[in-house]
Amino acid sequence: VSRVARSRNTAFKAGDIVLSHSGWQSYAISDGAGLQKLDPETAPMTTALGILGMPGFTAYAGLRNIGKPKAGETLVVAAASGAVGSAVGQMAKICGARVVGIAGGSKKCDHLRQELGFDVAIDHHSSDFPAQLAAACPNGIDVYFENVGGHVWSAVFPLLNDFARIPVYGLIAHYNEESSVSSRGDQLPAVMRAILRKSLTIQREFADQRPDFSHQAEAWISQGRLKYKEDIVDGLENAPEAFLGLLEGKNFGKLIVRVAP
Ligand SMILES: NC(=O)c1ccc[n+]([C@@H]2O[C@H](COP(=O)([O-])OP(=O)(O)OC[C@H]3O[C@@H](n4cnc5c(N)ncnc54)[C@H](OP(=O)(O)O)[C@@H]3O)[C@@H](O)[C@H]2O)c1
Repeated sequence: VSRVARSRNTAFKAGDIVLSHSGWQSYAISDGAGLQKLDPETAPMTTALGILGMPGFTAYAGLRNIGKPKAGETLVVAAASGAVGSAVGQMAKICGARVVGIAGGSKKCDHLRQELGFDVAIDHHSSDFPAQLAAACPNGIDVYFENVGGHVWSAVFPLLNDFARIPVYGLIAHYNEESSVSSRGDQLPAVMRAILRKSLTIQREFADQRPDFSHQAEAWISQGRLKYKEDIVDGLENAPEAFLGLLEGKNFGKLIVRVAP
């Protein structure tokens, strides 16, 4: 957040407060592109860097597009007292979710419960942190807002419910790692980093679209646009061998055991 010192751009005048990407420096030169005027009367100018800026928007977009918390669901957020996490937890409460925040130390946890209205706050430095998290999520986790990775992710992972949603926005536990694959050969941090950087969607969805599928696929087959191959094995007695062959790639096409002609 900067104050305009001098301007030859008529859109800005000396004294204007602007949001810019000028970085950590005392003075910067700009042609005005990308500068966003702020009104310090509407909100304190620091909020443009936090709750009303990129971190607040990160929380909002992650919940709206991916997390989609519903009333009664359990949402867990890591780095919960930070700019992103605190907004995530409060917005999820507004949506009616039960919110469990994970933060470091009793001071941050007290703040989450007492000031921000989180249902539960857990200190991830506690020796029994995974057990505390499990106890705080008796119905499992429906939304996990990922800011951290590392040991927090390891505790969250076994508690995820079917159809849980995971907005991945930060992996702060891994930012200082030199290699993308740990010395133990663990590729998970690299996978999570790819999800974060490339905005990957990794999902298996069985929505109620079976009638649409049948209609569409039959039409495509009759038009010759959708082809299929079958590998038919005769005799129920050959089923075990055929099934084992599937695991070795011996089948070529959809394996079907014909019990009788
Ligand atoms: N658009 C985006 O994608 C976007 C935007 C903003 C932020 N982010 C990411 O979101 C995350 C939170 O950002 P923020 O600005 O709100 O920061 P923040 O939460 O204020 O600061 C980071 C916090 O992470 C926690 N932390 C650090 N190392 C940890 C570890 N190894 N294990 C567990 N917790 C650890 C610490 O809190 P505790 O003391 O509570 O452990 C620390 O205070 C960051 O990963 C950031 O890179 C992404």
